[in-house]
Amino acid sequence: MSDHAILRITRESDIRNVKALIVGPPGTPYEFGFFESSSTWRGERGEEWSSAQGLESILISIQSLMSSNPYENEPGYEDAKSPEDKIMMAHYIAKIQHETLRIAVIQPLEDSLGIQLDGTLLPPTNASDTDDEETCFEDEKAAFEPFSDLRKRRFLWYYESYMQTIETAAQKVKPQEKFQQMSFEGGDNAMAGVFDYPELKRRIRFIKEAILNETKNWAVKGLEAKKRESRIAVNLQRQYEQVVEDLQRQKAFAIDLTLLDDNPFVWKMTYFGRPMTHLDGGIFKIKIHLSPRFPDEQPRVFVETPLFHHRVSKDGVLCYLPRRTEEMKHHIEAIVEALEEESPPYDPRTTVNLEASKLFWGSAEEKKKYYRALRKSVERSTE
Ligand SMILES: *[C@@H]1O[C@H](CO)[C@@H](O)[C@H](O)[C@H]1NC(C)=O
Ligand SMILES: *[C@@H]1O[C@H](CO)[C@@H](O)[C@H](O)[C@H]1NC(C)=O
Repeated sequence: MSDHAILRITRESDIRNVKALIVGPPGTPYEFGFFESSSTWRGERGEEWSSAQGLESILISIQSLMSSNPYENEPGYEDAKSPEDKIMMAHYIAKIQHETLRIAVIQPLEDSLGIQLDGTLLPPTNASDTDDEETCFEDEKAAFEPFSDLRKRRFLWYYESYMQTIETAAQKVKPQEKFQQMSFEGGDNAMAGVFDYPELKRRIRFIKEAILNETKNWAVKGLEAKKRESRIAVNLQRQYEQVVEDLQRQKAFAIDLTLLDDNPFVWKMTYFGRPMTHLDGGIFKIKIHLSPRFPDEQPRVFVETPLFHHRVSKDGVLCYLPRRTEEMKHHIEAIVEALEEESPPYDPRTTVNLEASKLFWGSAEEKKKYYRALRKSVERSTE
């Protein structure tokens, strides 16, 4: 799970049943698309490890085919150089970019959010609203959808990138322009359709709204779970108390934690910037939303105080990576690390503010600009 691009999930009840997801590489027309293996992978009994490794190498080779110029992967077109070829190449890349957004981002998210083609929402099913163990188990048997939550969380990270891709790409095509067929396309392998960026934009906005609504709704479901004294409510309450106790013992004055309305599904965190760091003197309000299906659904974390930071999206979504996903202790640690890290390696998959990232990993002059903007938001945070 350390590679941010290839994720494998094994169903606990059957370790030979593996599903995989590839996140399209940045800088290619597949950028931040979610490509899920359509068949589950089944290893032979006793060969689980080697077959899983086999899967890994298959995934890596699939990923390497997702290059910035897919045209050159087509047999016979490796050396396409004439002006006509170049025009076709650009058109092919534009098509892939459009269809990556439509098929590998929008459609699977709409499906898992119950958004229908006419833009209305399906009523939520009863099964997903309960944390009754039996029902969850039945539910899990019916649909093994390990990436549904991951896609939602990453969608919030990559939202700005999707929108920017659309802005740029929309300028290069006419509204409703038809896809041209390449000479190597045919049969099942042909991409037909039209460019419709305004429609993609509308659907992406709607998806974001639906995810944010769902996140808010966790608090409501959570309070109900607490009233029922359900197992997850008790578990999260206990984790909260443990984390607070640990923080007090460690005299970790930089962090203050409370529950919103005594609800163990909404943690309010205040982070005080440590002396001698770029966040020195800042006071930041952070809200951690937890799902009644935690840890299968991971927390969604929002920095509510405006903060110019490469890990914080324009909407305040914080991108952080906990070492262990099932313990809130690790989430809190990772949130602080994400805010404080001084010189992280550049990885576009985990940087969620395009302007801040460009400056942070830019020239010396740009980096200074980054820190000036960061300091400004730190100063404003106490007003
Ligand atoms: C779902 O909940 C509603 C209202 O609580 C109930 O009337 C309905 O029978 C339930 N459906 C299923 C499939 O359990
Ligand atoms: C989100 O919630 C608001 C307020 O309840 C509602 O008006 C809106 O239609 C919802 N949007 C989506 C996409 O679910």
